[in-house]
Order: sequence, then C-alpha cells, then structure tokens
Amino acid sequence: MVDRSEPTDRVLVVIPTYNEAENIEPIVERLRKAVPDAHVLVADDNSPDGTGDIADRLHEKHPEHVHVLHRKGKQGLGAAYLAGFHWGLDRGYNVLVEHDADGSHQPEQLPAILEALEDADMVKGSRYVKGGSVVNWPTSRLLISRGGSLWTRLCTGMNVKDITGGFNAFRASTLRAIDLDEIASAGYCFQLDLAWRVAKAGLKIVEVPIQFIEREHGESKMSKDIVTEALIRTTLWGAEYRAGQLKDLAIKGRDQLQQKLDKGA
Ligand code: GDD
Ligand code: MN
Repeated sequence: MVDRSEPTDRVLVVIPTYNEAENIEPIVERLRKAVPDAHVLVADDNSPDGTGDIADRLHEKHPEHVHVLHRKGKQGLGAAYLAGFHWGLDRGYNVLVEHDADGSHQPEQLPAILEALEDADMVKGSRYVKGGSVVNWPTSRLLISRGGSLWTRLCTGMNVKDITGGFNAFRASTLRAIDLDEIASAGYCFQLDLAWRVAKAGLKIVEVPIQFIEREHGESKMSKDIVTEALIRTTLWGAEYRAGQLKDLAIKGRDQLQQKLDKGA
C-alpha cells in the first residue's frame, strides 16, 4: 500500500525531448508560470536540432527550477522517462509528472491533476472522460488511440478510459511500489505498461479531463513499430492475466470439490 499522508510538495515535471527546438522554450516558460514551485527536467536524447542546448540555456535562466538530463542518443520515450524518474527519485522529489514538449499537453491543466493526486496514487490526464477532448487529430490517429485504449481494457480489465495518455502524475511512493527497472516498453506502450503495473499493484488511478492539442511544430515520433509493440505487449499481458484468472477459478473449484468429497468419505 502507498502511504497517501506522504507530502506532495516537491514536484518534478519530466519532459522527454527529441527534436523539439521550436517547442521546448515556450512549454518550459508556460510550466514555470502555471506551476511556479514545480521543477522541470528536460530529458533530451542528444537531439540533432539543438534542443539540448536550448534546454541548457533555460537552466541558466532558471538554475533552481529547470534541469537537463543529456542522454547519448535516441532510445525512445519510455527509456527517457525511466531515466528522468530515477533522477527525480534519487533527489527526493515526491511527485513525478510526465509531460510532452510539443504543446499537446496544457501546463495550465497541471494544477487540477496535482490536486487529484491528493486522493490517488496515479492521476491520468484523460481525453476520453467527460470534459476531455482532442483537437486537430486526423481520424486515423484518433482510431488508433481509442482502439488501443479499448483493446487494452478488454485484455486487462483495467477500468481506465484513456490508457495511452501521456500526461500523468505519480506519487514517488507509487513509482517505488512498482518495479520500474522491469519495464522494457520503449515507445508509447510505456504508458500502458506503467498504468497496468500501477493497477496490478492495487493502487488507485484517477482520470482528470484534459484537452490534447496536436502539435503545430515538428513531427510526431509515432510509428507503425510503436503501435505494433503496444498491440503485442497488451495482448500478452491480457493472455497472462486471463490465464491467471482461469487458474484461480479452477483451483477454487478443485478445493470445493475436495471438501465435498472429504465430507462424504
Ligand atoms: N528523449 C526522447 N527520446 N523523447 C522522445 C522520444 C525519444 O526517443 N520520442 C518521443 N519523445 C518525446 C517528444 O519529443 C515529445 O516531447 C514526447 O516525447 C511525445 O512525443 P510525440 O512524438 O509528440 O508523441 P505523440 O504526440 O505522437 O504521442 C503522444 O500522445 C500519445 C497518446 O496517444 C504522447 O503523449 C504519448 O506518450 C501518448 O501515448
Ligand atoms: Mn505529440
């Protein structure tokens, strides 16, 4: 169990970046305004477009609040978040937030997410609960996202509407309660993987409505391989989970039968 009486006053917002030169400065400045006490960690995978240098300049401007983690090369969103989480956990932050660099997530909605974390172990910014929305996504991308959420829900039984969403807040104790180092998902499947581990640990996930606005600058790093990874992994988790449920049922039936037989004997 996670102790919810633990303080939530030291917030670290992790922003993974790969080629976000046009986006990183405005998003960091918006975060500074919307949540002035929060710290920001840019986890940059040595972006060829110089995002890392811009992040360094932002650190010089806000030495206490903005930090930069320079990584060797492009290793996927999941790996960047894991490195960022470890960086924050090692430094005593008690809340860790996932936030995209490209303007899709609105920093102004973070206070509501943090408030909900007072009574939750993980909060998911959600496009698919009442009040949530998606702006400027092609139908094809919306279908992949909604289909992915539905499929994961069917496979795992998780009661979360926007499972793939990437605007999430965790108590440090939640991340410590799940085995972060076992997470192998590199791409966006990372989000599913995290939520599934939190749910399996019996922890409380709350969804808060957000508006997701498709980026205006730069490109999404979503690819067919990323979708395939998510599909294969969720199907395997579901198969394992459902097989476990069947096994439990069978054991229960066997034990009941044995009891009856013992009584009859
Ligand atoms: N360091 C690093 N390394 N950052 C990365 C990498 C990488 O390999 N790939 C992507 N990012 C960063 C981007 O720079 C951006 O800040 C953030 O991760 C999201 O990447 P996008 O490429 O903009 O993702 P998206 O808009 O297609 O997907 C978003 O929505 C999905 C939900 O449908 C993300 O929030 C996903 O996490 C989410 O699952
Ligand atoms: Mn994006």
